[in-house]
Amino acid sequence: MPSFPNILININGVLAAPEEARISVFDRGFLYGDSVYEVTQTIRGIPFRLDLHLERLRKSASKIGLSILTTDLELKKQIARTLIALDEPTVYLRLVVTRGGEEEISLDPNTPGRENIVIIAKELKPYPIEWYEKGVRVIIADTIRNPLESIDPNVKSGNYLNNVMAFGEASKIGAYDAIMLNHHGEVTEATTSNVWMIKDGTIYTPPLRSGLLEGLTRKALLQISQHAKIPVFEKTITPQELFEADEIFLSSTTKKLIPITTLNEKKIGTGLPGPLTQQLRQLYDQHCEHTLKSFEPEWREILGLLG
Ligand code: PDD
Repeated sequence: MPSFPNILININGVLAAPEEARISVFDRGFLYGDSVYEVTQTIRGIPFRLDLHLERLRKSASKIGLSILTTDLELKKQIARTLIALDEPTVYLRLVVTRGGEEEISLDPNTPGRENIVIIAKELKPYPIEWYEKGVRVIIADTIRNPLESIDPNVKSGNYLNNVMAFGEASKIGAYDAIMLNHHGEVTEATTSNVWMIKDGTIYTPPLRSGLLEGLTRKALLQISQHAKIPVFEKTITPQELFEADEIFLSSTTKKLIPITTLNEKKIGTGLPGPLTQQLRQLYDQHCEHTLKSFEPEWREILGLLG
């Protein structure tokens, strides 16, 4: 009986319980964070927006000169095998591709070594309801987001040390998360989600040029807001503007929209989740239900291919 009954790992096509899953200490992902990754979840057994996540994975990989040899179809089949074996309807799904590495400890990304593909699938339990009903407290971190001229934060790489440090600043004082600024002092994003503010009925989120990951939830929310005729803009945001906002919230695939009701020590708006955040949460939930249906036929096909 595995000690983690709701978690299953797939390494290069081999399924293993977490306590048995092993990767080489020479793997460049381990040594240097030389890897890319994606996180999505399943809803009623179907991986959400999988194609878009695979597209972003390849984009991230190409920006660090990593060509992923495994095809999308093979990645999907391995994800499907893992999900079938795990047999849970709501699953956190993490796909990591590292540049591999064999016994040669060298920074050179051109040293031979075949990619390692790791899939982590674990039951996704519902997040605390208070996060959504009361909102969370977030701080502005001292650790800044790495600049665009360095490794672009729009590369979802395994190198998350700035984010790790920023998150540590938050967790140390019991805050939910941290918002990171860039070296110009502009707001970028939180450690694993995008950030939004609402002022006088208009929604704002920082532009990609501020240095952030182009979240798929962010992309969907921009479209949903436009469609609902709610004014929405990508614009540079200062911490001062965040403090003076009527509402602030975070967005990501697994956590969806989380209202921020306290920033550092300051209450935001009324100190409760605001009406526009609540409206967007509802619209986003409807969008998820609607789009999920469009992923279903292809997923059935993939499952069919497994025989
Ligand atoms: N995080 N910004 C960062 C730095 C992220 O790591 C993420 C995703 C996002 C939101 O992207 P999306 O809407 O596509 O989930 C923004 C995932 C969930 C994670 O690392 O767990």
